[in-house]
Amino acid sequence: MVEIAPSMLGANFGEMKREAMLVAPHSAYLHMDVMDGHFVPNLTMGPDLVKALRGIADIDVHLMVTNPSDFIKDFSNVGADIISVHVEANNPGKAIKLIKELKIKAGIAINPSTHSSAIEPFVESVDMILVMSVEPGYCGQSFHENAIQRVKTYREKYPDKIIEVDGGVGPENAALLAEAGANLLVAGSAIFGSSDPIKVIEDMKKG
Ligand code: DX5
Ligand code: ZN
Repeated sequence: MVEIAPSMLGANFGEMKREAMLVAPHSAYLHMDVMDGHFVPNLTMGPDLVKALRGIADIDVHLMVTNPSDFIKDFSNVGADIISVHVEANNPGKAIKLIKELKIKAGIAINPSTHSSAIEPFVESVDMILVMSVEPGYCGQSFHENAIQRVKTYREKYPDKIIEVDGGVGPENAALLAEAGANLLVAGSAIFGSSDPIKVIEDMKKG
């Protein structure tokens, strides 16, 4: 079964709480894209926004920051349920250790252009692998097809890990990703750009 984590970066920021409450009953998590203007050019959201949405649904924090260890405590304090750090960031191992010490689920995220073996040193210490299917930074980019093969490879190697896929995901590729072994799909523009976000989520869940 595949579950959905709407990317709140795709929501209307002026209506963030209302949009979160709309999608939450149909979703496993709210996916929060944290960007520092350095690891990626964009600047997005921080712990205060997570705090404002706390309790509406479980929170999945995707850190696209250069120094993830500096922010783990802040996101733990506001109620993050999963925190993912990029394998391309500085010292992901240290950040994962901090996350686990705080008894939160940890994820290792990997960009499409990074070799899939790069996560190997970290995978045993995490609960989740976050397969990026776009280069991180912005909503609304098109899906990199090679993510499907990457999900298959990871599913075979790591049968017990949560595999999350993020970027350009929507009803048109959800079934393929679920078949390949993904169990958590992130979608921003497909959900919040639709006039019927709930239908999009339910269609994606059908796999
Ligand atoms: C990209 C982010 C994604 C993105 C998803 O850097 O990590 O979560 O907002 O948006 P869509 O689904 O529109 O690609
Ligand atoms: Zn994300």
